[in-house]
Amino acid sequence: MKQIQKSQHITADGSPTLYMEHFDEYYHSKHGAIQEALHVYLDKGFAHWCSQNKTIKHCRIFEMGFGTGLNAFLSAEAASSKKVKVYFDSIEAYPLDLTEQKEAGYLSYFSADRKKLFEKIIDSSWEEEKQISPNFYLTKLETRLEDFSFKATYDVIYYDAFGARTQPELWEDSCFPALVAQLNPGGVFVTYSAKGSVRRALERLGLTVTLEPGPPGKREMIRATRPLL
Ligand SMILES: C[S@@+](CC[C@H](N)C(=O)[O-])C[C@H]1O[C@@H](n2cnc3c(N)ncnc32)[C@H](O)[C@@H]1O
Repeated sequence: MKQIQKSQHITADGSPTLYMEHFDEYYHSKHGAIQEALHVYLDKGFAHWCSQNKTIKHCRIFEMGFGTGLNAFLSAEAASSKKVKVYFDSIEAYPLDLTEQKEAGYLSYFSADRKKLFEKIIDSSWEEEKQISPNFYLTKLETRLEDFSFKATYDVIYYDAFGARTQPELWEDSCFPALVAQLNPGGVFVTYSAKGSVRRALERLGLTVTLEPGPPGKREMIRATRPLL
């Protein structure tokens, strides 16, 4: 968040994340940033959707909270390995500046080829669609979720807000109707949270909610699916 000092923190799987002392809050799980991203968003989200839609070779993903770009980067890699064209729209209220991106540490953490892909994601301009690789199209949008008007519908939604302790307003029932309305039939909404009030809000909106095993350090997480028509 702007004006808030951020520093690098090495998480339990050896991958870095950003830490904000002011809120005692991390951009990813301190139990493993990459493990968490791969588990919650890639395995339980994108890969799960692919396994249910084997013949569909394009997927539209929405991310709430672009942050360091780690989820976008891992999704770009998965798009290429799964040979699925991914259109990835990500909103961010407080984009990191270059110094903060460097501080996050992914550019020095990844090997040369992966670093190049990460750089393309970070450097890609905001407010327009950019082709990052043959199978990955990224649109980064600087906006608050509360102010955002959706222009597309989605197969997968990554809900990656800071925790309810830091930003309770992003876990209230009122956050979900506009978002869920954009989910295609068979589409999946995933978040690291297992919060009961979120689960119930998603159920009231007609989604089928399952509590999935969480990433290291978390017993459960939410996956919610819009039933097929
Ligand atoms: C947990 S971090 C996201 C981590 C990110 N997905 C990544 O891979 O690095 C939450 C993000 O949500 C952003 N954010 C906070 N309030 C927001 C709001 N009202 N609308 C959109 N983004 C917001 C924060 O600035 C932060 O970057």
